[in-house]
Amino acid sequence: MSGLLDWVEERIPLMKTYNKHVGQYPAPKNFNFWYYFGSLAMLVLVNQLLTGFWLTMNYVPTAEGAFASIEYIMRDVEYGWLLRYMHSSGASAFFIVVYLHMTRALLYGSYKKPRELLWIFGVIIFLVLMAEAFMGYLLPWGQMSYWGAQVIISLFGAIPIIGDDLTLWIRGDYVVSGVTLTRFFALHVAVLPLVICLLVFLHIVALHEVGSNNPDGVEIKQNKDENGWPVDAIRFHPYYTVKDLIGVAGFLFLFCYVIFFAPEGGGYFLERPNFEAANPLKTPEHIAPVWYFTAFYAMLRAVPDKLGGVIVMFGAILILFFLPWIDRCQVKSIRYRHWYHKLNLAQFGVSFVILSILGALPATTLTTIMSQLFTLLYFGFFMALWWYSPTEKTKPVPERVIYK
Ligand code: HEM
Repeated sequence: MSGLLDWVEERIPLMKTYNKHVGQYPAPKNFNFWYYFGSLAMLVLVNQLLTGFWLTMNYVPTAEGAFASIEYIMRDVEYGWLLRYMHSSGASAFFIVVYLHMTRALLYGSYKKPRELLWIFGVIIFLVLMAEAFMGYLLPWGQMSYWGAQVIISLFGAIPIIGDDLTLWIRGDYVVSGVTLTRFFALHVAVLPLVICLLVFLHIVALHEVGSNNPDGVEIKQNKDENGWPVDAIRFHPYYTVKDLIGVAGFLFLFCYVIFFAPEGGGYFLERPNFEAANPLKTPEHIAPVWYFTAFYAMLRAVPDKLGGVIVMFGAILILFFLPWIDRCQVKSIRYRHWYHKLNLAQFGVSFVILSILGALPATTLTTIMSQLFTLLYFGFFMALWWYSPTEKTKPVPERVIYK
């Protein structure tokens, strides 16, 4: 066996790569709860890929066949219902996990030097993930699939000069039709999953190049023993493989509960109008995107002008790219930052949650005014951060990580 392994090792550096990235990867010894979500995001990604491939075996990507093929998967395909619920609930789980993963980066300043590129790969993953989820949602060809796509694609029409041609190009037709469905299918099952896998690979390569941050924001590589091993590091395996398994177990409890007892997620994971086949002649009373998009949808609706709304909505995501340069404070972790930074970050989180709620409600004068207010607070976070961070009064950061 060891002869065979040596033979392989001489040709592909299998063990060398394993040791560098798992077995001997020096991880800070003070990772906490927030560090579960990177490995969980990978777990959910694998879940989406596997269940997605299996769904594809029985799904029919045409306007005539799509809705019925989902019903066929749910009723007649062996364990089809399980595959479908794992995939549809998996999409929501993906966003819950990724939002928590991003929150961790905000709490501990993991986007700061030297991890800017790692963060940028993360934001690109987030954008592609949104595109992937949006295209996947058209595939069941229900009422909400159809009208949601109609609303979102028509937003591109607000872009001056090229807008109309662009929407036509995206849809491949004058309205959302079977042509749109087939191209979204191709992008959803082949192109975007490949792009996401490639980006996740680059994300991890970038992480392992600079090393992980930690809840104290201490650079562990700056303090090494005589063998060159960071004194505050432990080997990723077995310490964090075991710790991550606890996260996986906790996640699977919740995920199985949703799949077996609440697969529709109260109408948020699978929206009620989507149990009716798409009907281009009947607009649903209230069109709202799935919960993970509603914060951005609220920002879109907050601006009376269509183009302005589109700019604000995309701006809310694009501004994340610049965060490493907006936050100019030298201290990374929230633990050692001033109370006004804590307050600013808390208001940002609360504003995002309130915007998510507002975006799911029908538009009224009150919800519009509130959306405007919380959109201002969302962008206000970045503006205030830019202003106070260079002169922020911080607490002294310890030399070594704190491990209880
Ligand atoms: C498919 C989605 C994603 C996967 C599979 C993924 C995976 C991972 C993994 C395995 C880690 C190392 C373990 C950990 O620190 O938790 C990590 C770290 C990190 N990720 Fe992601 N990630 C994803 C999306 C994102 C997004 C959307 C962002 C931000 C916009 C992001 C930002 C970061 C940062 C800043 C770190 C370093 C954290 C630190 O060292 O403190 N990731 N990611």
